[in-house]
Amino acid sequence: QTVAAHSGAADLGGYRYYMQKEIFEQPRAVADTLLDVNAVMPELFGDKAWRVFNGIDSVLLLACGGSYHAALTAKYWIESLAGLPTAVEIASEFRYRDGVANPNTLVVAVSQSGETADVLGAVHVAKRAGMIHTLAICNVPTSALVRECALNFITRAGIEIGVASTKAFTTQLVALFLLALTLAQLRGRLTDEEERQHLHALRHLPDAMAKVLALEPQIMAWSETLTRKENILFLGRGMHYPIALEGALKMKEISYIHAEAYPAGELKHGPLALVSDEMPVVAVAPNDRLLEKLRSNMHEVSARNGRLFVFADVDCGLSSGPGLNVIRLNEYYGPLSPILHTIPMQLLAFHAALARGTDIDKPRNLAKSVTVE
Ligand code: G6P
Repeated sequence: QTVAAHSGAADLGGYRYYMQKEIFEQPRAVADTLLDVNAVMPELFGDKAWRVFNGIDSVLLLACGGSYHAALTAKYWIESLAGLPTAVEIASEFRYRDGVANPNTLVVAVSQSGETADVLGAVHVAKRAGMIHTLAICNVPTSALVRECALNFITRAGIEIGVASTKAFTTQLVALFLLALTLAQLRGRLTDEEERQHLHALRHLPDAMAKVLALEPQIMAWSETLTRKENILFLGRGMHYPIALEGALKMKEISYIHAEAYPAGELKHGPLALVSDEMPVVAVAPNDRLLEKLRSNMHEVSARNGRLFVFADVDCGLSSGPGLNVIRLNEYYGPLSPILHTIPMQLLAFHAALARGTDIDKPRNLAKSVTVE
């Protein structure tokens, strides 16, 4: 709490925009969020977490906006690491749907502010239906959501002023990854050696993030082209599909360029019809087991004269050529790769918006915290 209060000082510290400052604060925000994490253990989520986590048979994540994309990423982690069936629902949809309540589900509400009306409403609905095991992943310890949920994990992003969420999003991912590890451990699916390796990767994340931030000049150069377009398609696969969604959301929110994200495998089921030299395609292409599949999706784009802007990793075997622009991250970061690949999405949207001269910290028609329906 002290960390959040101090680091949230509302000066621009030499940056032109809060969003820009908050993007560059991410290594610090992640390090602070990990400050008390010395081991993977249920107590990170509250005193009663051990008992609650041992009694659940599934997970339901509820969120809105960018937080929903963090929740979608968590589904991949919880299912693959902990082997628990995981559903993700947009809070405003969940609260008015006649869903089937499972009292043994862990309900995880993900929210930067902890004041989003639809998230609070969805948690009320879940509790009324008998789903009492509730966990808040939130950046504001005094928020209504934290008071409402039995368990909590407080991210230490510090106060976030830019309407488009950046450091809150990446710290939510850190918290959700810790949740996946904890559930995996309780279910006997995490060896001590694996725990050690994951904690090591988490501790090195701030350094790895700083290296991605250093790619800003290359990303800025791409923004000059993209800013002249009216539509952009974002593609990703697997746990990077939610990162493509987040990239498209940031682009829409602050640059007002129409952007949509698709899981790359769906390209041929519709969006390929839109691809032309006027519709650039941004691909999130880490060096994971889906890269080959994504590569064939990218060929489909090139064959239609689509211009590709690919965020890959070192050793990906891709290099820039006609119609294909590639920026490589320094390393492939395993299951935590979505956190690193978020940063270029943020910088791309930021520089596109900067070139368009929009009100980056306060985009038209949007609010930081939506406390009414
Ligand atoms: C608003 C903000 C978004 C945010 C969403 C959810 O739409 O503009 O940046 O992702 O609310 O907010 P929360 O505080 O619940 O994460």
